Amino acid sequence: MSNTPYAVQWQQAQLHLLDQRKLPQEKVMLVYNQAAEVAQAIKDMVVRGAPAIGIAAAYGVVLAAKNAYQIHADNWRDAIQNDLQQLAQARPTAVNLVWALQRMQTHFAKISGDPVPILLQEAQKIQQEDISANYTMGQLGSNLLSNNCRVLTHCNAGALATGGYGTALGVIRYAWAAGKIMQVYADETRPWLQGSRLTAWELLEDNIPVTLIVEGAAATLMRQQRVDWVIVGADRITANGDVANKIGTYSLAVLARQHGVKMMVVAPISTIDMQLADGNQIIIEERDPQEIITVAGKTIAPQNVNAWNPAFDVTPAALIEAIVTEKGVVMQPTIEKMQTLLSST
Ligand code: MRU
Repeated sequence: MSNTPYAVQWQQAQLHLLDQRKLPQEKVMLVYNQAAEVAQAIKDMVVRGAPAIGIAAAYGVVLAAKNAYQIHADNWRDAIQNDLQQLAQARPTAVNLVWALQRMQTHFAKISGDPVPILLQEAQKIQQEDISANYTMGQLGSNLLSNNCRVLTHCNAGALATGGYGTALGVIRYAWAAGKIMQVYADETRPWLQGSRLTAWELLEDNIPVTLIVEGAAATLMRQQRVDWVIVGADRITANGDVANKIGTYSLAVLARQHGVKMMVVAPISTIDMQLADGNQIIIEERDPQEIITVAGKTIAPQNVNAWNPAFDVTPAALIEAIVTEKGVVMQPTIEKMQTLLSST
């Protein structure tokens, strides 16, 4: 269980999103009735985290179909094409977004009459499956940890980033409840501060003690032998086991290898993209430089400075000890092992 509210909620025929830009100071739920507004909310980081944006997009399809059916009952499928495109293009790196949209579209052909009941059922199923995948991964990941384990996590791969419970934080929650965790460190995760604003908040709400560090402290922490595992989520995992995740994950993986620390990636099957051979093919989102020129709305760098703001990086499979999915664990991933995992699903 987790005390964090669901980031994505369907209530009274509307989509409710917890505004993650405002956490932890304010808990504001925003309400959506239009798919285009949901696409904008994904772009603007109201909702973020690979599985959560997929789930929000699935509910976005429900809203699109609902609105289109009221005006064009006979050709609602054509009428929502623009909405589908906007949702798909909201953010490029996490494959869960297009995965969820494709899954919703597989139902289109068999629908006759009002599309909402079937599509809503499917969106809710996507969310429920994600939550139960997280519990399974929590247990599988926890099994890899030894007692008195010290872990470091990056960004936020918690309840807020998923249907509920979390991927990397799911493992940490599960292992904490099992009495296996001695120490949790969270990287603050510039520039959006998902580590300090979201991960630290989630853990403290669950009474799990956490120590916040700046990314630059990770090397010293590892050199002082104070971490056993780095545990992170993923936005896209390619056929060979390369992993795209929040910018800074690759640096942690390199540091971990240097210091004999193990690297665990926790992600549902919906994050695996077997269409891409390796991480070089992943489109890495580059966001507005203003995000790093400012902090919490306040300008901190010369306004005219050049800034480069990639939101994700790619960690090569060779640096990863374990990829944990709800269908099983892949140790030291290779293309063959990833194929075996996928063929068993
Ligand atoms: O830019 P964000 O906040 O959407 O980035 C999120 C991450 O990188 C997470 O680690 C990843 O999506 C996994 S969430 C379970």
